[in-house]
Amino acid sequence: MSFSRDSKVSDIVLGQPKAKRVFEDTGVDYCCGGGQSLQEACLTAGASVEEIVRRLREENCAAASENTQWASAPLGELTWHIREKHHAYVREAIGRLRSLAEKVRAKHGNQHAELVEIERLFLDVAREMSTHMQKEELILFPYIEAMERVMKQGVTLEPPFFRTVQNPIHMMMKEHEAAGDLVKRIRRASGGYAAPPDGCASYQALYRELREFEADLHEHVHLENNILFPRALKLEAAVLGPGGE
Ligand SMILES: [Fe+2]
Ligand SMILES: [Fe+2]
Repeated sequence: MSFSRDSKVSDIVLGQPKAKRVFEDTGVDYCCGGGQSLQEACLTAGASVEEIVRRLREENCAAASENTQWASAPLGELTWHIREKHHAYVREAIGRLRSLAEKVRAKHGNQHAELVEIERLFLDVAREMSTHMQKEELILFPYIEAMERVMKQGVTLEPPFFRTVQNPIHMMMKEHEAAGDLVKRIRRASGGYAAPPDGCASYQALYRELREFEADLHEHVHLENNILFPRALKLEAAVLGPGGE
């Protein structure tokens, strides 16, 4: 795909999925900050726009990309993928990271005070993500899947208590921003996940897993903010028809 410095970061990722790796490496926010232009996002991240443009051009853009697939696959498949891949990962990682963060803080917290803050921030993001995913799984995703059944099978749809899908989507996007902010603070407190030379194997493992947690969160939020939610809004407009509510 072609892009410029004025292209939206989310559009670049949609057209060129491997851009995600470039953005991960350089700290450019492509999920919550996906609405920014490349130029603005690089400025926010303190990254060189020239370097990123060069790397993006180098990346091979496969035609049958994952995003192209999700741009047209049934939404029920996308919600299933998000549950099975990302929600399952987050739940499993929370269990592991909670005890790892506690163990490393207990052992090294006196010499490395930032471990106390990192553990607290992680417990916050773990709590927020747990209730957030529950809301998606119990309320938003079933409604999106039901709308799809209406279109495919002509079944009737009960009006939801939240009136329009715009409301839970708005709430989910705000929660994504809050979770994104917490992991940004973990990144900052850990100096970009750089374990100190005296850090034991558990210390290294904690930072490695926290980095993975951040990368997974970015991909997860990207799928929802930039693909699932815009498609759900369009689907609702189609289900309700002109002037419908
Ligand atoms: Fe999710
Ligand atoms: Fe979400």
